[in-house]
Amino acid sequence: METAGAPGGAREGAPERTSDRGPAGPGRPGRPERPGAAGWVPGGAGVEALREAARGCRGCELWEPATQVVFSAGDVHGRLALVGEQPGDQEDRRGVPFVGPSGRLLQRAVAEAGIDVATTYVTNAVKHFRFTQEAPGKRRVHSSPDVAHVTACRPWLAAELAQVDPEVVVCLGATAARALLPKDFRVTKHRGQLMRLSTSRGEKTFLGTIHPSAVLRVPQEQRDAAYAGLVADLRLAAGALG
Ligand code: URA
Ligand code: SF4
Repeated sequence: METAGAPGGAREGAPERTSDRGPAGPGRPGRPERPGAAGWVPGGAGVEALREAARGCRGCELWEPATQVVFSAGDVHGRLALVGEQPGDQEDRRGVPFVGPSGRLLQRAVAEAGIDVATTYVTNAVKHFRFTQEAPGKRRVHSSPDVAHVTACRPWLAAELAQVDPEVVVCLGATAARALLPKDFRVTKHRGQLMRLSTSRGEKTFLGTIHPSAVLRVPQEQRDAAYAGLVADLRLAAGALG
């Protein structure tokens, strides 16, 4: 296997962090093998080459039960990036992010916020679907990624954001926020706040908001308000574009 090493300065498009651990040593007995994605990320590669390379990623154990890697969609020169959590059931089958129920809601919210969705870059913090399943053939139930999965997958996110170099990055939900925003960021407290954060491509604007699936999960009588909140946050992000 070719090793590209840890993501280096100029390739990092995510806010700088000191807490990211490098590739771990051999997995401890009983623990999943989780060396992290860095060894699979080709240095200096464009988004299409990253997408291709991600197919072979074994940076954590999530690749194995999943159908395929789900890398990203949209405009690789997009000025606005939307970062979700991980692919869902439909995304896993189709290999494209945000094509299921939350994706449809997101598209509607983005359009309503006055953003042309075709001009956005859409990706996820974790690139393989994590799920539980009672038995083969049974329904696959979404399971949120752990911090360890977010950490393992982060080299892909860092590399793609460094390439796309968006002006504004929207983190949809706590997992994306965990990948890109300061450690003390809480969606409930800090959503809808524009933040200037330093990245290897200079200072960029970040905003954390709720995940579109949260709109689908709240009781019916709260749904309109939750949706309106998402649209308002997206509008704020769009307004930060220079
Ligand atoms: N939820 C996400 O966070 N990402 C997807 O791609 C689909 C659903
Ligand atoms: Fe690699 Fe990320 Fe998939 Fe884990 S989830 S195997 S780190 S692409």
